[in-house]
Amino acid sequence: MNLKEQVGKKAVEFIKEGMVVGLGTGSTVYYFIHELAKKIKEGLNVELVSTSVQSINLAKSLGLEVKDIEEVSCIDISVDGVDEIDKNFNAIKGGGAALFREKIVADISNHVVWIYDEKKDVEKIGAFDLPVEILPFAYNHTIKKMEDLHLNPKLRHKEGKILVTDNSNYIVDLALGEGFNIEEVKKKLSTIVGVVEDGLFINMCKHCIKGTEQGAIIIENHNYKRK
Ligand code: 5RP
Repeated sequence: MNLKEQVGKKAVEFIKEGMVVGLGTGSTVYYFIHELAKKIKEGLNVELVSTSVQSINLAKSLGLEVKDIEEVSCIDISVDGVDEIDKNFNAIKGGGAALFREKIVADISNHVVWIYDEKKDVEKIGAFDLPVEILPFAYNHTIKKMEDLHLNPKLRHKEGKILVTDNSNYIVDLALGEGFNIEEVKKKLSTIVGVVEDGLFINMCKHCIKGTEQGAIIIENHNYKRK
């Protein structure tokens, strides 16, 4: 079993009867959704919401119903992947361009679980470029502001075209380097009008499940405080 599959399957142990479950996005969550679909077919009764069209389509292809986020009054638990995570539970997300919905779903959720293979575990985040969702309107000006602030932006493309998110926005990837100053970058981004959201997820999860060759490890974040 590969490590993504290992943690995706393990995460289903957190899902209990009657819960509203937020589905994350990506190749690790893919296994979680498959395993959850099995449990639902065996009789588990849960309601689902999603962080992306990709995950909605996957869930639907497995015969699951996905509710619109406005149809639920709360989210009991959400399970999502990360691109990088440090020991203080600071993570970079958005490699799959779903960071905006992922952040809203994480923010609303009573319990956030991140699943990843051990390669995502880093001493300091930043080797992975930080994704930032921006408005298409005046995007070249937004990017220029980022350049002026030394954030090293690069507009994301897919198949030769500008990548468009599920929210009809664009993604800019910032090459900041390992160990960048998180507070400073957050402050700079907050001054740029066209920025919708960034892929910095600071201390937002209660549990992590890390895939290792020795098996899946559940890590509790003791410093997590629900807002
Ligand atoms: C999508 C994300 C994903 O959770 C992140 O990119 C991890 O993906 P994968 O499990 O495919 O490595 O943030 O926007």
